[in-house]
Amino acid sequence: MAQQKKEELELTEAQIAVHWKEEEYYHPSAKFIGQANASDPDIFERFSEKNFPECFKEYADLLSWDQYWHTTLDTSNPPFWKWFVGGKLNACYNCVDRHLEKNKNKAAFIWVPELENETTETITYQELYVRVNEFAALLRDFCGVKAGDRVTFHLPMVPALPVSMLACARLGVIHSQVFGGFSGAACGGRIADSGSHILVTMDAYYRNGELLDQKIKADEAVEVAAKDGVRVDKVLVWRRYAGKYSSPTPMVEGRDYFVDDLFKKYRGERVDPVSMPAEAPLFMMYTSGTTAKPKGCQHSTGGYLAYVAGTSKYYQDIHPEDVYWCFADIGWITGHSYIVYGPLALCATSVTYEGVPTYPDAGRAWRIAERLGVNIFHTAPTTIRMLRKAGPEEPKKYNYHFKHMTTVGEPIEPEVWRWYHQVVGKGEAVIVDTWWQTENGGFLGSTLPALQPMKPGSCGPGVLGIYPVIYDEERNQLNAGSGKAGNICIRNPWPGIFQTIWGDPERFVKTYYEKYCKNKNSKDWRDWPYFAGDGATQAADGYFRILGRVDDVINVAGHRLGTKELEAAALTVEEVAEAAVVPTIDELRGRIPEMYVALKPGYNPGKGVEEKVKDAIDKLIGKVARPRNVWLVPDMPKTRSGKIMRRVIAAVSNFMDVGDVTTLANPEVVETIRRMVQAEKARRGEIPKDLSKEMIEEIKRFGAVE
Ligand code: PRX
Repeated sequence: MAQQKKEELELTEAQIAVHWKEEEYYHPSAKFIGQANASDPDIFERFSEKNFPECFKEYADLLSWDQYWHTTLDTSNPPFWKWFVGGKLNACYNCVDRHLEKNKNKAAFIWVPELENETTETITYQELYVRVNEFAALLRDFCGVKAGDRVTFHLPMVPALPVSMLACARLGVIHSQVFGGFSGAACGGRIADSGSHILVTMDAYYRNGELLDQKIKADEAVEVAAKDGVRVDKVLVWRRYAGKYSSPTPMVEGRDYFVDDLFKKYRGERVDPVSMPAEAPLFMMYTSGTTAKPKGCQHSTGGYLAYVAGTSKYYQDIHPEDVYWCFADIGWITGHSYIVYGPLALCATSVTYEGVPTYPDAGRAWRIAERLGVNIFHTAPTTIRMLRKAGPEEPKKYNYHFKHMTTVGEPIEPEVWRWYHQVVGKGEAVIVDTWWQTENGGFLGSTLPALQPMKPGSCGPGVLGIYPVIYDEERNQLNAGSGKAGNICIRNPWPGIFQTIWGDPERFVKTYYEKYCKNKNSKDWRDWPYFAGDGATQAADGYFRILGRVDDVINVAGHRLGTKELEAAALTVEEVAEAAVVPTIDELRGRIPEMYVALKPGYNPGKGVEEKVKDAIDKLIGKVARPRNVWLVPDMPKTRSGKIMRRVIAAVSNFMDVGDVTTLANPEVVETIRRMVQAEKARRGEIPKDLSKEMIEEIKRFGAVE
């Protein structure tokens, strides 16, 4: 009996049967199909497994190579796959220079400032070429960086960000953009990990109508990096208004420089693009995992660029005449791949917006779409939910027409999907729900918009050339239609996959490949499935439904936050002895963290500790991670071996059944915590409404792999 109870408590992912109702298909219009880049089903044959890996030549051929490759896929050192070996190219040349001959006057970026009375800025390919060259000259000659060096950016959503990225790419310098909303300390840790000696930042930017000081974070970042042994030599500060410093934080003599001042010296400078091996790293991007240390995902030049160009063409359906708006932050992988590199490789016009979706009101996004003639729209469920809540009828007031829309980053509830389709897309636009990760470079699961029907809440099958599979914990394959959830893996390598975790190849192998590797000595890619870390189920039609992370990651408004990072931040507060964080369901942001802390003996509970914990998280990670509540508890529910049962407290926070807790070491504490937390949450009006079956399953799973 006791054994049975224990098993119930330790339900694995794969043992959870999923019974939600199947949604109906939606079909693309004949008009969309008639113009789509991929409308001939032959494409599935071209990308079928028997044509792997050569099928990806089609993506690589979208690029201009200085030297063509001789080996499409080199598997000699698994799982460190090499793509397009022998090839040489420059990513900046591919995104800018090669378009000048025919399209120098075409808009590469249209940047919309948050303040509506400020002028929208159009940056043509020619203008982009000039700015990128000047900044590349500055980086090379003033900062002395060269191919292979790392440069960290901590930039908001302004044109300076893609300009800085492309300037690095021109030199073969590896850029590492840290999301602008993250704290200075978080930026400093990433500077140190990457060994960057140059930090590129901004004085200030607008968010919700307020001019926020960004420069202040640079000082802290430099300090934190120095403590970790990395000295930042120069801080380059772009200014929101050239010639006018908008931050109250003083510049540091001999370290901090205004980019617009330095530019005077580099006016008209041209820098030859450096021809890089396909396998040279193009950039890295940090993301969260199961330990407190973020992972620097290293992306290649040739494979990555080929993959984002190919998927932008077929899945985003970008044509030269389209106006494409990916409403995401360039500081996330979505922005790198599908605001900058993918669209620019195709010579598209990419719209970028500085601010928040609902500033100054719920019609803002639709006014931008109407005014600029946007016809492809790409965003995350959290933005869709926010716009839906703030103005459910608002899109109807504006005369824009999308042919295509994307959702990315989190599972989208079918109800929200339908609003997106019917109201935002006016029933005309096709939707792709794209599932992928920072590590992947580009899409993994999606429907091919003209050829595969949409199904709300499901991303669809694997994309072209990607062969997913679901395994249970015992390595059994769960077939389509099994009704069971398991761990989604990708059976094959693909050009966009990251190359390694910067400075930690062991962690790379361990995290992504060890779990399902069939033979460690094998050089056959078939023995090395990629473990994505997401729970999923596959319907009989082959479509995947992604259930969320199986590791200790909480997805807040599309931002991946590691529970260990949050807990480590809480533990920096002197009074705190133990900390555990759990996700709570939130109507708009998807999930919001809630922190439980137990105090060290001799410390008294008091409001002060809660604030200190919240402040520590703001400071060490950023405001996106701020917990909604911090609960001071007498003790954490623990297993007999001393592990904190996050699943139990997650159930408490979400008003769900805590299940059988009799096998815990301290079962009595659960009821004490439940009463305290739920009474207070009820008082604060935080009782969740109608939790869906999926949400309940997610909370039940949370922390199951501790
Ligand atoms: O859990 C999955 C979820 O977001 C995670 C990846 O987050 P990140 O690396 O920040 O990249 C986000 C943008 C690519 C995944 O492991 N996720 C991403 N896309 C979807 C999704 N969950 C459900 N549906 C999606 N379309």
